[in-house]
Amino acid sequence: MDTFTPPKNVSKICCIGAGYVGGPTMAVIADNCPDLKVTIVDVNKERIDAWNSKNLKNLPVFEPGLENIIERTRGKNLFFSSNVHYEIQIADIIFLCVNTPTKSNGLGAGKASDLKWIEICAREISTYAKGNTIVVEKSTVPVKTAEVLKNILNTKSNDKFFSVLSNPEFLAEGSAINDLQNPDRVLIGGEDQNSIKILSQIYSKWVDKNKIITTNVWSSELSKLSANAFLAQRISSINSISAICEKTGADIKEVSKSIGTDKRIGEKFLRSGPGFGGSCFQKDLLNLIYLCDFYNLPEVSQYWEGVIQINNWQKQRISRLVVEKLFGTLNGKKIAILGFAFKANTNDTRESPSIFICNDLLEEGANLHIHDPQVQETQIIQEFKDHSFNNPNKEGYGSWEFSKDIDKVIKDANAAIIVTEWDEYSSINWQEKEKIMSKPSWLFDTRLVSNSKSLEKTNITYWRLGNKINEDKNY
Ligand code: NAD
Ligand code: UGA
Repeated sequence: MDTFTPPKNVSKICCIGAGYVGGPTMAVIADNCPDLKVTIVDVNKERIDAWNSKNLKNLPVFEPGLENIIERTRGKNLFFSSNVHYEIQIADIIFLCVNTPTKSNGLGAGKASDLKWIEICAREISTYAKGNTIVVEKSTVPVKTAEVLKNILNTKSNDKFFSVLSNPEFLAEGSAINDLQNPDRVLIGGEDQNSIKILSQIYSKWVDKNKIITTNVWSSELSKLSANAFLAQRISSINSISAICEKTGADIKEVSKSIGTDKRIGEKFLRSGPGFGGSCFQKDLLNLIYLCDFYNLPEVSQYWEGVIQINNWQKQRISRLVVEKLFGTLNGKKIAILGFAFKANTNDTRESPSIFICNDLLEEGANLHIHDPQVQETQIIQEFKDHSFNNPNKEGYGSWEFSKDIDKVIKDANAAIIVTEWDEYSSINWQEKEKIMSKPSWLFDTRLVSNSKSLEKTNITYWRLGNKINEDKNY
C-alpha cells in the first residue's frame, strides 16, 4: 500500500455491474457530480441496451425517481456500455457492483457467498487497468474479501497499483433514489487515507460530512452483513408476534405501534408481512452464518439461523392457512395472487414470498391467476424455473396464468391473496369485487393494506395477518 499514489485528477469512474445497485447508485453520483464521467459496464448486453433505450419505461430497473435522473444525465456524464475492458483501462476509480449470490455448489454451498463474479472482475481489472486505480467494493461481500481482491489485483505487473476500499451500499429497493440522495450514512473502509479522502470528496458533493463514516476495511465489510442481519431479525421478530396475535385477539398493527413508540426500539421495520424477500437478507444472513461456522461460533450461527427459520415458517403458515380455510383442498379452485414483486415499488422478484406461497398452492392443485403492476410474466417463469418449481407434469400440480388486469384475475376467484403491498391493492373496492368473485369468497391479506371498511360491507370472509379471523359471514 505504501506504493500507492492516488490518481491526481479523478475524472472517470467505471462501475462494473448495471443492476439494481450499479444503475441507481451511479445515476445519483453522475447527477450530483457533473464534473465526473461515469460509465456503467455489464457483460449482459441486453441489460445495457435496456439502460440505453429511448423509452424510459423500458429501463431494466423500476425505481421511483430514477427515470428523471436518467433523463438528466444519460449521454451527458452518465453512460452505459458493454465495452468492459476499455472502460476499466481509462478509469480512475472502479466500483464493483456485481452479484454475490449464495453458492449453489462446492465448499460452503447453500451458505457462503459465491465470489466468482468479484474474482472475474478483479482479474479483468488487474489485466486492463493502467496506472494507479482505486477499486471500490460496493457489492456485499464476506469479511476479508478485500484481501482476496488485493491479492488478485497485485499479481500482474509492477507498473500498476491498486488501492481497495470497501464502500457497502445500504439502499433499499423501491426507495433507492431517496436512500442514495439522503443516506443515513456512507461507510468507507480502507487503509489508504488518500483514497478514502478521494471517495469521501465525491460523496460530500451531496452528503453531509458528518454522515460519512470511515473505518478499517473489515469493520466496513462486517457492518454491511450485520446491518442486514439486524433488519431481517426485526422482521422475523414481528412476524413471530403476528402468530401470537392471531391466537389471542391482539392486533399486530396495534402491537407494532405500541412497541415502536419506544425510542430505543423505533417505529421502522416493524411491519408484519409474509416474510422478508429480496436478493439480500437471506443471502447475507447465510453468509454471516457461514462465517460463524468458519470461525467455530456455533451458538452465534444458530442464533441467526433462527431468523431464517421463522421467515420460512411465516410463508408456509400462510399457504397452510389458505388450504385449511378453503376446505382442505385447492384442486380446481381459482385463486387470485395480488403481487409478485418482493415488496412494493420495485419490479424485483428475487426471493419474493410470492414465489414460495404460489408453489405451495400449486402443489395443492390450485389454479392461480397472478397480478403485479411492474413484474413481467417472463420473470415469473424464470423464478419458478430457478427454484425448480412449476412442474405441470407432476400429478395434481395446479396451473397458473398472469394478467395485468386486476378484474380479470379476481373474476370467479374463490379467494384473493394480497402478497405485495402495492398502493392499488389498498384502494380495491371489495364491494364491487364481491360481485364478480365465486361464493363463498375469501380474502387473505398478508400485508394489512386492504380497506377493511369496504370489506366489512361485503360477505367476503377475510383474514388479515396478525388479527383474529372473523368467519361470522352469512351467505
Ligand atoms: P444484479 O444481479 O441486479 O446486478 C449485477 C450485475 O453485474 C448483472 O447485471 C451482471 O450481469 C453484472 N456482472 C456480473 N459479473 C460481471 C462482470 N464480470 N463484468 C461485467 N458485469 C458483470 O445485482 P444487484 O442487486 O445490483 O446487487 C449487486 C451487489 O450489491 C450484491 O452484492 C448485493 O448483495 C449488493 N446490494 C444489493 C442491494 C439491492 O437492493 N439489490 C442493496 C445493497 C447491496
Ligand atoms: C434491504 C435493506 O433494507 C437495505 O438497507 C440493504 O441495502 C439491502 O437490503 C441489500 O443489502 O440488498 P431491500 O431488500 O431492497 O433492502 O428492501 P427492504 O425494504 O429491506 O425489504 C426487504 C424485505 O423485508 C421485503 O420483502 C419487505 O417486504 C420486508 N419487510 C420490510 C417487511 O416485511 N416488514 C418491514 O417492516 C420491512
